[in-house]
Amino acid sequence: MMTLEELKRLPLEAERAASAAKNQAELRQAEIRFLGRKSELTLFLRDLKNVPKEKRSLVGRAANETRVRLVEIFEEHTHRLTESLAPIDVTLLGIQPRLGHSHLVSQAIEEISAIFKEIGFKRVRHPEVESDWYAFESLNMPPDHPARDEWETFFMDHSGNVGDRFVLTPHATSGTARVLATRQLPLCVINIQKCYRRQSDVSHVPMFHQFDGLYADQGVTIRHLKGVLEYFVKSYFGAKREVRLRPHHFPFTEPSFEVDISCGICSGRGCRLCKEGWVELGGAGMLHPNVLKAAKIDSKKITALAFGWGVERTLLMRSGLEVPDIRILYENDLRFLEQF
Ligand code: DAH
Repeated sequence: MMTLEELKRLPLEAERAASAAKNQAELRQAEIRFLGRKSELTLFLRDLKNVPKEKRSLVGRAANETRVRLVEIFEEHTHRLTESLAPIDVTLLGIQPRLGHSHLVSQAIEEISAIFKEIGFKRVRHPEVESDWYAFESLNMPPDHPARDEWETFFMDHSGNVGDRFVLTPHATSGTARVLATRQLPLCVINIQKCYRRQSDVSHVPMFHQFDGLYADQGVTIRHLKGVLEYFVKSYFGAKREVRLRPHHFPFTEPSFEVDISCGICSGRGCRLCKEGWVELGGAGMLHPNVLKAAKIDSKKITALAFGWGVERTLLMRSGLEVPDIRILYENDLRFLEQF
């Protein structure tokens, strides 16, 4: 029978033999030598009954620990040989990374700017933190003008004397005086940007997107305005949709219009959704002479058409999506977003 000393040396010897094995067959042979029926360990365990009672549990535990260790050693080496021998199948498909896509509002922005590009509108972008001058005053809304109430504005709290009040721009019309003053005429631009207003409910989000178009040149008239709007409506909503200009008031346009399109459900006949056959899209008009004046442009020579409204609204109107709460667009819920 082995001595305890010899027993404790077994793992070391087994490790050496297992590492020397170059393949599974050699490893099995070594395993049989150390753990098989005729191995020293098996014989030792079988002879345990001859060990004096008082020593038996101590020796028994040592023998068992050795056996557990030997089993581990051979498992480890089986693993080593399996791994190193596993053929690499280069034809197997790789793990496909999950592909995302742009947000449905971004998709709408791309589509809207592509349509306007076809008729010569160049895309521009203006600051989201804007001075009171560009957001209101240059647009014919002096301080304390009551019309300002409609744009539920976020005011910036800034220190330092920069000589003007700043706001988070409440509409995409804010860049009008900027472009008029810095670009050469004729000017044909569309500004699409984030806008901010203090409102949050099922049909409003505090941050949303608007597009605002401007075409300034000699001889621009309402007929051009109607033509531009029709081109957009027919391209985006479909050839059958009609455009109607309804008199309205905006401080920065004269005359001003509300732009309606014929209802997509009843084709203008009138239904439960639209009542009279028309649904409201947004605002438009001919730029007010005071706005041209603010940009130092002679309103006797130059006229300009303008229009603007919300991207989210436009998108939802076309999709026919009846979202119960518009805020779902910005909740980052993949179950919703993955559908687009
Ligand atoms: N800026 C307006 C708003 O936020 C919409 C608008 C109306 C834009 C008429 C225009 C326009 O360019 O001509 O309600």
